[in-house]
Amino acid sequence: MYKKLEINPSARNALQSGHPWIFSGKVLSHLADYENGEVVYVYCEGKFLGTGFVSPNNSICVRMISRSREVVEKDFFIQRFLQLKSLKQRVLSGETNMYRFCFSEADFVPGLIVDVYGKNLVIQTNSAGVMKNLNVIKDALIETLNPSAIIDRTDEDTYKLEHFVSDKPRERVLHGSLDSDIMQLKENGILFYVDIVNGHKTGFYLDQRENRELVGKISSGKRILNLCSYTGGFTLYGLKNNADFAVSVDVSSKALSLLSRNVELNGFKAEKSVTVKADMFDFVSNEDLEKYDIVIVDPPAFAKHVSESKQAEKAYKFINSAVLKKVKPATFILTSSCTSVVNADMFSEIIEKSIRDSRRNVKIIKKTFLPSDHPSLFHFIETEYLKSFLLYAL
Ligand SMILES: C[S@@+](CC[C@H](N)C(=O)[O-])C[C@H]1O[C@@H](n2cnc3c(N)ncnc32)[C@H](O)[C@@H]1O
Repeated sequence: MYKKLEINPSARNALQSGHPWIFSGKVLSHLADYENGEVVYVYCEGKFLGTGFVSPNNSICVRMISRSREVVEKDFFIQRFLQLKSLKQRVLSGETNMYRFCFSEADFVPGLIVDVYGKNLVIQTNSAGVMKNLNVIKDALIETLNPSAIIDRTDEDTYKLEHFVSDKPRERVLHGSLDSDIMQLKENGILFYVDIVNGHKTGFYLDQRENRELVGKISSGKRILNLCSYTGGFTLYGLKNNADFAVSVDVSSKALSLLSRNVELNGFKAEKSVTVKADMFDFVSNEDLEKYDIVIVDPPAFAKHVSESKQAEKAYKFINSAVLKKVKPATFILTSSCTSVVNADMFSEIIEKSIRDSRRNVKIIKKTFLPSDHPSLFHFIETEYLKSFLLYAL
């Protein structure tokens, strides 16, 4: 049914142990014979290994879809989505209507992110295979989830990386229509206004849900400093759980204005929430951190490419050391890194060095990774981009 693609035996082990990528240097077949995004059957020394999407011009050349001989048409995607529908509903509370439905390789549709926002879906595509099959994928999503609208938020750089250029303007609303860009959604019963058209990522940092729950549990009677607050995820969980007050710091005034609307939406007293538009490095340098019992450090991805990893390490080290040095005894610190360029071992080392620098005793209360709607795969650390520590400084 599909063309064969032969790989070097040196790539077989990684593939068989679950790593879903084949790099171009490991492909023995002539790559110019393949169309960008077409489905291929992968072989090694004549033995069938699985089905994948090929991006013949990229170093990540094949993304594996399955270990079986699949026919990748609408029914294939419907089966994948039906599996995801029953799985994701089990790992979330009924009071949550925004979550990651499909997490690319880790949900075995490599290159497809689908996030659910109430009745709407927001997708991002990052493989030529998914881009090429977008219409069929859209139809399969409509058949399995019956959404009111499907919005595509793939950015132009990603199309370029996948050599999927087009002269025509891209369709952003793939299906249905939206009454408004900003809609009201809920996470664990807490209400949020989310801008699914212009907000960061697909609109909300869905990946921090379980860390927000964790902070909620320790918030009662506490004073919270939420650095890099975005629209107030951690702030709202704190206030819901009877925190004394929360100070939220972000460089985005749009995010802070949604944060204040979120406080009002949930009926929390406005005087319990203070927003500060500031750069977190300046803020931490100038602020008296002894005023707080909980400090959240959730910065943006300081690096998107390995070439920037040193500068990212420096930034994480700077902010974590500064916070650890300045907080009073008996302070919780929830600190995260959301870039796969700084992996879990590197981030652990940075936190360890920051603690050493602060010359104080610090307990690790919890180490966390992604929440349950963002699965990961053995031998594929690229999906495990978010890692966090809940620390307790004495
Ligand atoms: C990972 S998000 C935070 C998500 C948030 N904790 C939540 O639960 O929704 C990072 C945020 O940092 C903000 N940001 C980026 N650079 C910043 C800086 N130098 N100082 C303060 N905020 C910054 C961005 O505007 C963004 O809202």
